[in-house]
Amino acid sequence: MSRLIVISNRVQPPKTGPGGNQGGLAVALLAALREQGGIWFGWSGETTEEFSGHINFQQGGGVTTATIDLEPQDVDEYYNGYANRTLWPLFHYRIDLTEFERDFGSGYRRVNQRFADTVRPLIEDDDLVWVHDYHLMPLGQELRDRGFRNRLGFFLHIPWPPARLLLSLPSHRKLVETLFAYDVVGFHTEDWLDSFRDYVTKQLGGTLGPNDTVTYEGRTIRAIAAPIGIETKEFEEAAAGNDARFARERMYMSSTGRSLIVGVDRLDYSKGLTERFLGYERFLQQNPERNGLVYMLQIAPPSREKVNTYQEIRANLDALSGRINGEYADIDWVPIRYVNKGFPRQTLAGIYRAARIGLVTPLRDGMNLVAKEYVAAQDPSDPGVLILSSFAGAAAQLKEAVLVNPYSAEELSDAIVKALEMPRAERIRRWEALIDNVRREDVFWWCDLFLAALRGDAGAEAAAR
Ligand code: UDP
Ligand code: G6P
Repeated sequence: MSRLIVISNRVQPPKTGPGGNQGGLAVALLAALREQGGIWFGWSGETTEEFSGHINFQQGGGVTTATIDLEPQDVDEYYNGYANRTLWPLFHYRIDLTEFERDFGSGYRRVNQRFADTVRPLIEDDDLVWVHDYHLMPLGQELRDRGFRNRLGFFLHIPWPPARLLLSLPSHRKLVETLFAYDVVGFHTEDWLDSFRDYVTKQLGGTLGPNDTVTYEGRTIRAIAAPIGIETKEFEEAAAGNDARFARERMYMSSTGRSLIVGVDRLDYSKGLTERFLGYERFLQQNPERNGLVYMLQIAPPSREKVNTYQEIRANLDALSGRINGEYADIDWVPIRYVNKGFPRQTLAGIYRAARIGLVTPLRDGMNLVAKEYVAAQDPSDPGVLILSSFAGAAAQLKEAVLVNPYSAEELSDAIVKALEMPRAERIRRWEALIDNVRREDVFWWCDLFLAALRGDAGAEAAAR
């Protein structure tokens, strides 16, 4: 079996010992690396005065990780710049927040070249290479330019924007052309895939062929939809474990009989937190008899703090949560508990389970794993209700959630009432349909599906689908 080389901006070192706190993507990739052998390569998260190309290897849990340090200017222009001030907002349909700076583009190219130069010697002839996410779109082309002939796959974990939006990116054509260096390009949903195909056919003059193929200037690749899942079995076990039980008890003790509505999101404008707070405020306004009987816990660990738009959303949410609490709180009740720190996933599992409602309302999201985790953590005999934005990739699979337009305060307010009033039989019926999908299409299924496509193993891919 050929080895696997995973390349992403962030690398998750394997956690040894019990109670590891890794997300689904890391769990699945680490499992694949363990099985096939190989390396996970990426940025260390550290800076160095002058880029040296020195690789720091670490071994643990049967996996090798390899990381490089970047220069401060690289981090500014590539990570904080092109990746998170240009591509992230634009691909999440936020052209109003998108910044276009030439230096960002050159930093992005430089770092992708640095990745290519340093990872190239680590790759053997029949290794499979799998590149992840928007930070590294041109990496495949950089590797091909260095004479690289291996099978190369790319997966985009964020939405692909409509062509009309993408046109506002200077050099959009060049960026999309680089994707034709890969053999397989993956997206989480048919919607993102459709937008990609639309751009390629209308803007590049490419053509679509059978079996998800796309051809441009004589080069044919496969562009597929493969929705990522979570490590469902492990998460269900975690939800029944000791850490989760402890967290659940803590929630029950402090709830004093009130229904908990929970949100868990990186503090990111794409997550729709402002609109969520406003929707909840509308609910408080329109349902005075329910004030004091529910509360919202919003966990929002800060993210990308050097980027101004993230500083702004944080300041806005501080003000908004303060205003709502000031207006509606009572001497023994606060409507929103707003917590700016992260929690281990075992703890989250317990909090999800204690919550009568999971409120997952991004304005746009490639997938959204919190929605799936909320489902996996529920008590089968008395499950809570998932309220889910129809603009999250997860909505394509989680059809039995209460789907909402996250921009509409009225819809959010109505959905909260509906969820609070939902009879147990209906909650069970919906949850059973949801968990069925979350179990079937878990992260290992996703990983196998993409790797089968990358290997060109049509039989295995068809069996997985
Ligand atoms: N997460 C966590 N601790 C926190 C908040 C979030 O471990 O305090 C995890 C969460 O369990 C989920 C991931 O971070 O696995 C977030 O993934 P998602 O797809 O929902 O959003 P992203 O942050 O990737 O945009
Ligand atoms: C999203 C992106 C990932 C990224 C993660 C956390 O899930 O798709 O590529 O790693 O957010 O963001 P950060 O900037 O902290 O890596």
